Amino acid sequence: MKKVLITGVSGFVGYKLHQLLSENDFETSGFYNRTKVNLKNTFSVDIKKRSDVMKLLNNISPDIIIHAAAITSTTYCEKSPEEAWLTNTLATKYFTEYAKEKNLYLIFISTDLVFDGLKGKYDEEDKTNPVNVYGQTKKEAEDLIFQISPRFAILRSSLIYGKSWCKTKGADEKIINYLSEGKKIKLFVDEYRNFLYIEDMVRTIRYFCENEIEGLFHIGGPDKMSRYEFGKKIAEHFKLDLSLIEPASIKGYSSKPKRAPDGSLNSKKLRKIVPFEFTKFDDALKAYERI
Ligand SMILES: NC(=O)c1ccc[n+]([C@@H]2O[C@H](COP(=O)([O-])OP(=O)(O)OC[C@H]3O[C@@H](n4cnc5c(N)ncnc54)[C@H](OP(=O)(O)O)[C@@H]3O)[C@@H](O)[C@H]2O)c1
Repeated sequence: MKKVLITGVSGFVGYKLHQLLSENDFETSGFYNRTKVNLKNTFSVDIKKRSDVMKLLNNISPDIIIHAAAITSTTYCEKSPEEAWLTNTLATKYFTEYAKEKNLYLIFISTDLVFDGLKGKYDEEDKTNPVNVYGQTKKEAEDLIFQISPRFAILRSSLIYGKSWCKTKGADEKIINYLSEGKKIKLFVDEYRNFLYIEDMVRTIRYFCENEIEGLFHIGGPDKMSRYEFGKKIAEHFKLDLSLIEPASIKGYSSKPKRAPDGSLNSKKLRKIVPFEFTKFDDALKAYERI
């Protein structure tokens, strides 16, 4: 049985992954930081602390590392760029060096925010140009993996939605929570993403773990939508008050963090490899009951 270590196991993706892989013939362990989780073989560690990380890695001795831990709030990264770099970039180096030393397969989850969003439909050959600190730290982490790691997959993901373990993590849950509490929310009509269903993300990673597929891949859902369309469909599906969503334009938006208007991804390379179809947004909405 392959031993898989997941970092960020208390996060949206990491938690689901731990559950799925544990049910599917993997011996799974995980790292979290501040949010204790009720999953077996999980350990609290600050991944910025190299010696603590190494001690745990040597004890666990994984066959595969899935590095999903990161500071994911773009606003927080902008306010604390050094902490963001130490966590998102330098800590990635620790896992990558360990993976190289032990000749392990490493999966790293990156983001569409490595692009500036001026072109859209980005494929793996397109030039990166992050416009905010979060995107920059993830791009630098990718660069380190390209330089150091002999056996890796980088999955550059669009915004992920779906039911999470703590009901606040998915892109959709934040909107549902706001509208359920009668709060107004502004969503851009001209900021586009290929919103990705969490179940498609985790089953792709399971397939990658089973087959140790290497390379750089874009992973986005089949529907390209604006944030406003995304929110509108959610409100309609869950019969929430649509009038609370205020359509806004990204043009003239000057606050930090800077936004990437069209970060849509072309995922053809990945789709040719995985033996399943990605879920359409309407079908995903039908698939999970109201939170
Ligand atoms: N969710 C998305 O829409 C999306 C889109 C594109 C890419 N991604 C990428 O996918 C990965 C997973 O995202 P997610 O949505 O699951 O993130 P998330 O829900 O924000 O979870 C982040 C995880 O990282 C851990 N972490 C943060 N700082 C840490 C530290 N210093 N030491 C140890 N652990 C630390 C957190 O631990 P604690 O909570 O215990 O502190 C948590 O488990 C990330 O790399 C992210 O960049 C996500």
